[in-house]
Order: sequence, then C-alpha cells, then structure tokens
Amino acid sequence: MTHPAFYEFGSPVRVVSGLTALERIPGLLEDLGAARPLVITDKGVRAAGLVDVLTGALGNGLEPGGIADEVPPDSSVAAVREVAHRFREARCDGILALGGGSVLDTAKGVNILVSEGGDDLMAYSGAGALKRRLKPLIAIPTTAGTGSETTLVAVIKDAARQVKMTFVSHYLIPDAAVLDPRMTLTLPPHITAATAMDALTHAMEAYTCLAKNPQSDAAALAAVALIAEHLPRVMAAPGDAHARLALANAATLAGMAFSNSMCGMVHNLGHAVGAVCGVPHGTCMAIFLPYGLEYNLHKNGPLTAELLLPLAGPEVFARTPAYHRPFRVIEAVRQLNRHLRERTAGRHACSLQEVRDARGQAQIPRERLPEIVAAAMRDGTAIYNPEDLDREDVLMVLTQAWEGLPLDRTRVRQG
Ligand SMILES: [Fe+2]
Repeated sequence: MTHPAFYEFGSPVRVVSGLTALERIPGLLEDLGAARPLVITDKGVRAAGLVDVLTGALGNGLEPGGIADEVPPDSSVAAVREVAHRFREARCDGILALGGGSVLDTAKGVNILVSEGGDDLMAYSGAGALKRRLKPLIAIPTTAGTGSETTLVAVIKDAARQVKMTFVSHYLIPDAAVLDPRMTLTLPPHITAATAMDALTHAMEAYTCLAKNPQSDAAALAAVALIAEHLPRVMAAPGDAHARLALANAATLAGMAFSNSMCGMVHNLGHAVGAVCGVPHGTCMAIFLPYGLEYNLHKNGPLTAELLLPLAGPEVFARTPAYHRPFRVIEAVRQLNRHLRERTAGRHACSLQEVRDARGQAQIPRERLPEIVAAAMRDGTAIYNPEDLDREDVLMVLTQAWEGLPLDRTRVRQG
C-alpha cells in the first residue's frame, strides 16, 4: 500500500506535558488572552478530587469564573445550553475542559454557543458551519484514551429527537492539551486498560487504514511503542506517574494520528455494540482490535508486520520470520488483552460474551448480534477500512468475537 498522492494533516494543538503541567495553565490562558475561565467537568471527576488538584495548581493568581460539573455521561444539547448559560452569567472568557470524551464534547458545544451567541446549537451541526475562531479552550484529559483533546469533532446527543448530532470544524480543536499524570493516577485498573486499548486502536487503525499518510504514521508508531512499554507498567504499578504520563502522551499522539487518517472496522463494530448494548467504547475496542487486524490481513499483511517493531521491540521483530510478523502482531494484541484481564480480576473482557454490566450481568446476549449487525451497517466508519464489510462479514466477525475465537481464515473475504 502506498500513501495517498494528496492528503491533509493538521494538528494545531499546543501540547503541554509533564509532572507539573497543570501549573502552566495560567500562562497558557494569558497567552490566549483569557483570565476568567469556566471549568467544565462532571460529578465523577469532581468526586475524585481532580477539580481541587486543578484549582490548587492554578494558584492564587487565577480564580476560575465558575465550576460547571453537570455534564452527563452522554453529552446532551440540554447540558450544553445549561453550561453556556453559566458561562455567560459568570462573565467567563475561556474554558478549561477537565474530563473524558463527554466533557470535552460538551465543552466544544458550549464554546460554539458562547462564541457565536444564541441558544441554537443545531444551527452549527454538520461540517464547516463555523467560520471563525472560538473562545480559548484548554483540554485537560482525565483518561488516557479518547484523544478528544486533539480532534475537530464533537458528538452531542439531542435527547428530544433521539439523535446524536455531529459537529465538525477545525475551530473545534482545543487550543491546548494539558497532560498531567495527576489527572489519571487514580483511574481504576479496568478503565485504565480499556481506555489505553482505545488509544492503541486509534494508532493501529490510523497506521493500517486507507487514509494513512507519513505524518499520521509517525504519530501512530510512536503511540504504539509508548503503550506497549508503559501499559503493563501502569497495570503493575498504578501510581507510577512517569508511566501514566507516557500513556497520556500516547493517547494524544494516537488522537492526532486517527483524527487525520480516520479509523476503520474496529470503530465501526465498536460503535454498533455501544449503540445497541451500551458497552463502553474502550471495552469494544479491546475486543475488536485483533479481529480488525485479522480481517484485513490479506490486504494489509506488510503494514501489520511493521507494527511488530514498536509493539514487541527489536529483538522479537528480528527473530520473527517476515511472513510470520503480522500473525505475531495479532497474537501480541490478544496476549495483551489476556494480561489485562488477569490484572483486572476478569473485568477486562477479551470476548463479547465476557462483557458484564455494573451488576455483573452479561451485557451482550448472543441473540442481539443481528441488531448489532444492523447498527454496524448504519455506521459509516468502515469507509476507510482496507477491506469491504457486508452484513455476512460483520455477523461472522461478531460471532467469532462473541465466542472469543480467532477468525476462520477460510471464511474471510479474499479481496
Ligand atoms: Fe476510539
């Protein structure tokens, strides 16, 4: 596979990364011309004490204009309006978005309303509706996974109309991403594992899908190497700040990669399982990643083989025969999943049938697979997947992933 003759790559986010990166925020706000930021977060992040860590790091010189912690787990139009109202009432002039994907998306939606005026978020949905810079927005991720701190997209649910609205604009990319391990140190092991596998999927899909380019490749390979080295360290020693910071860097790099080169069938299938059964995104990514690599193998063998170097290191790469490298990559991802399952006392699922909800009930009954197939067919993410996916293919992959069995090579579409 060659790179496209034409591509675009943009990643204007100022990344500030370090053990005391939070302390740089007052300076960043000053550079951006803001002095009274609204902190947008959720109740879980607040209960974990992270808002206090942030405000402590801001020091006496900078007082937030307010703390809006009412972001729901699934960002909503109503929440965006409510937080925008808070922003205006408190006469804020910038946003500190402290949280995971939902907080980030909500903050991007709020920024549209408070910058453009009015209450009609829908007027800005779709691509290209924004025509000018918004107010300063600094993203402070509290998981190392989604990469939302680098992306130009916000997905916000309109509960009244039962639809997810997508907003796409370069003006939605945060001005800065602040990566500080104090924000992820207390993340529970199963969430650490699932979010890191989301980042690994961003990197691997960016490297192997159709819109790859030299810039996204560099970011993707760096992310794979960081995750391979530091995820096992964090699972063994969750308080290792340096390893936590490495994972945060990896997630941001992987975000830069996939937001410029898009992703493929792993995200397609994951969105479908998420929509039908309410399973967390990272859990789906971990399960489907080896299947995505396996399904595309006959088109992507050499590219998949290249991932062995950052994933397993030079010694393993050198002693593995070239023809065997792609299979070794897939096996290494499965091994990593099994290791994560062991480290989380079974909470990290390696197959769809192992996924449990908060009460310990199986969350993906086998009889729902046809519904998931239908949802996958409605999701457009597979457009950049190297191999086509039809209903029959999706059902075959889902069935194997439900059982936790490798794909039957005789049934994989051969180009
Ligand atoms: Fe993802």
